Amino acid sequence: KDSYDVTLLPGDGIGPEITEATKKVLQALCEKSGFEMNLNEALIGGSAIDAKNDPFPEESLKQCLASDSVLLACIGGYKWDNNPRELRPETGLLKMRKEMGLFANLRPAKVLPQLIDASTLKREVVEGVDVMVVRELTGDVYFGTPKGIDVVDGERVGYNNMIYSESEIERIARVAGDVASKRGGKLCSVDKANVLDVSQLWREVVTDVISKDFSDVELSHMYVDNAAMQLIRWPKQFDTIVCGNIFGDILSDEASMLVGSLGMLPSASIGESGPGVFEPCHGSAPDIAGENKANPLAMILSAAMMLKYDLDRPDEAQLLEDAVEVVLDQGLRTADIKQDGDNCELVGCVEMGEAVAKQVETLEL
Ligand code: NAD
Ligand code: IPM
Ligand code: MN
Repeated sequence: KDSYDVTLLPGDGIGPEITEATKKVLQALCEKSGFEMNLNEALIGGSAIDAKNDPFPEESLKQCLASDSVLLACIGGYKWDNNPRELRPETGLLKMRKEMGLFANLRPAKVLPQLIDASTLKREVVEGVDVMVVRELTGDVYFGTPKGIDVVDGERVGYNNMIYSESEIERIARVAGDVASKRGGKLCSVDKANVLDVSQLWREVVTDVISKDFSDVELSHMYVDNAAMQLIRWPKQFDTIVCGNIFGDILSDEASMLVGSLGMLPSASIGESGPGVFEPCHGSAPDIAGENKANPLAMILSAAMMLKYDLDRPDEAQLLEDAVEVVLDQGLRTADIKQDGDNCELVGCVEMGEAVAKQVETLEL
């Protein structure tokens, strides 16, 4: 195949800025490798609420499903924070994941040698860290019912339901087993089985699946509170982690600090079939939006994951990753990965995108 339809979802906050930077990189890549990529934008999040009064309009869903793949920037912002739940940007993102069946979210936290000092942790702790968090994405307390805020005995009570079915656990365990067997062969399942019934089932099903069908994978279990600590204490003990939706949300942001910045963490959201959605782990960073300060590398690295997982272009994916490393070797840094006195050059989102695009043109495919 030499022509791809990719839906771009710029979203909100820094989204349009990092999308613009990523577009330049992808355009350079197309020229380089001679395939075509039609980048068609669609609405999601706050910008979709403003334009269509819907955080994920039907036409966006249709366009995503008709594409070869989807590249999402980020959604959210103060402006919509007090909207009713159905008119919030986050609801659009969750709707997209659910309706596209994206139950598996791969969040790799790989420490690049150039950024070891960007982490707040000691060099010897983070050097060589390479962890993959496999986060379940369409279940858990995010989607469980009943949920709501009711008045009970004269006061308001808020509640959500942490719930997983066997089949939901089984399919994410299979993805995690597969990922782990292609990586270091070690899988750590993170739960709260000492307290939660849903976690007890999680542990039983994960154990069954891995012991039956992934004999090459060494499975361990850890409680989530300990895992949060171990990830900071000695992250090199981990290879692949599998967990439910909310634990994975929290642990992956935590893992970003091993790498140095949330602005470096890409992800792949995939389902049983159909297009995946490739999205940075970070949000819309409203505190720096519109200031040319955002780090576009998480989105550029998400585009690399798209090339690898959805478009079957592993060499082009590698080229993007190499281009990012060369630019870091050259000493270019956005503010989030710049250290005081590091002799590196502080650049904005635009300049970072251009520098990566230039390397894509220069490096050999
Ligand atoms: P956030 O990830 O937007 O920002 C957290 C911190 O990291 C901020 O200081 C921000 O400036 C920084 N940061 C994040 N990405 C960066 C980048 N690429 N370059 C430089 N710095 C970066 O999280 P938040 O502040 O808790 O949430 C802001 C909004 O984003 C909320 O509306 C939230 O719901 C939404 N959100 C969306 C997604 C998504 O689209 N997938 C993910 C997380 C949060
Ligand atoms: C993420 C975000 C989302 C999540 C929010 C914005 C719904 O934090 O992609 O990590 O919790 O999944
Ligand atoms: Mn998150």
